[in-house]
Amino acid sequence: MGEPARAALRTPGAGLALLGGPRAVPRDAPGGRWPIVTPEDEQAVLRVLRSGRLNAATAGETEVAELEEAWALATGTRHCVAVASGTAALHLALRGCGIGPGDEVIVPALTMNATAHAVHAAGGTAVFADVEPDTYTMDALSAAAAAGSRTAALLPVHLHGLPADMPALGELAGRLGVPVVEDAAQAHGARLGCRRVGGLGTAGCFSLHPHKNLPTCGEGGLITTDDDDLREQLVRLRNFGEPEPSGTRSYIAHRTAFNARMAPVAAAFARSQLARFDENARLREPGIRDLLDRLARLPGLRVPRVPAGRTHSWHILRLMPEPEELGLGPEHRAGLRAALHRVLRAEGVPVSQYQVAPLPAHPAFRRAGPSGPVPLEEVAERFPVTVAVVEGSLCLQRRHLDPAAGPLLRRYADGFEKAWRHLDLIRRMAVSRPAPGWRETLSRG
Ligand SMILES: Cc1ncc(COP(=O)(O)O)c(C=O)c1O
Repeated sequence: MGEPARAALRTPGAGLALLGGPRAVPRDAPGGRWPIVTPEDEQAVLRVLRSGRLNAATAGETEVAELEEAWALATGTRHCVAVASGTAALHLALRGCGIGPGDEVIVPALTMNATAHAVHAAGGTAVFADVEPDTYTMDALSAAAAAGSRTAALLPVHLHGLPADMPALGELAGRLGVPVVEDAAQAHGARLGCRRVGGLGTAGCFSLHPHKNLPTCGEGGLITTDDDDLREQLVRLRNFGEPEPSGTRSYIAHRTAFNARMAPVAAAFARSQLARFDENARLREPGIRDLLDRLARLPGLRVPRVPAGRTHSWHILRLMPEPEELGLGPEHRAGLRAALHRVLRAEGVPVSQYQVAPLPAHPAFRRAGPSGPVPLEEVAERFPVTVAVVEGSLCLQRRHLDPAAGPLLRRYADGFEKAWRHLDLIRRMAVSRPAPGWRETLSRG
């Protein structure tokens, strides 16, 4: 090796794609498609189009009921009610559980905003709890601290595919005498012991958004329950408050409600995907495990932890660099995340931020408090784990769901290992280019 080449190797960052080196993940690397649409899925959709039964209220329509039956079987619940979206599933499940004006529902501060919207759409108020630092799911102690005389339900989220601590939350709900509605929008197939999510509370709510582990074409949602009365309420609530027709539809509204029916095309597509659901989960597991095993060996990088007795459906992979372990102060958490973001994306590793601000700080939910907007300092004090996770972590989404993504994920691991060989430069970037924190993001957004 000549002196110029040796000098280049001594230059901080030499070889990084950010500085002109080759990418760890070639642009044409195969794999990473999700959802995968097969000829069977196309046939399922065509079947509906050719049947002429294009809407769930059409006489003789069976696609929706067949999906409901299949998902109840898959989750080990007595009933499943298909609806128009995951948000509609949450909204209807809360209304079905009697949530209305004056009620408070405890929601984690780290989740997709739909979780809190559903509470407000039902007429209630979302009251927030922090999440646990190692699972990112609702912290039962924080939920207990947030509970009060108006608490009418708990709404834990099985975030990213990991079941929340349902034994602790169930115990709290039992003490408060309120139901637990599971937001399982991201956790199809995940288990606690031998029970699948959706069967762990009074009702379980799933999203069939095309990027979810069980996708549909367009939008869709599923509600699971063992409660016969709740099922009947849900069937009314998705269809203008009308009772389930036995024969001719009555058009008599018994409750105020919207149209939240699932389209038969969406039901047929989702059921076709469901036929491959377990196999896809089995096939993607080794590639994801290999990736996480390699990342776990990088100093100062925390990979998702799966507590004993739970399984993870790996909807999103959240990775948490620890500034202190990497020789930086906690004030550089956002800077470190932003530096890694730049370096890794240049390598072709599509890391992203999932949730950019704690939910209680979003203007829609800050205004919801009875005594006016909560100061942002108070949000930071009350939800320190959510704040650290939002500011400091990076996520991999969607591409790893391709059951054939193993080789692509090996390239991702190469990208991370390459970045870790240049930690000196990354530390310098983190310190010299402070990233906007969640408060700045909020003020811009
Ligand atoms: C945790 C969570 N809850 C609820 C929803 C809402 O589902 P949908 O988009 O199907 O309405 C989502 C969707 O991304 C979600 O991730």
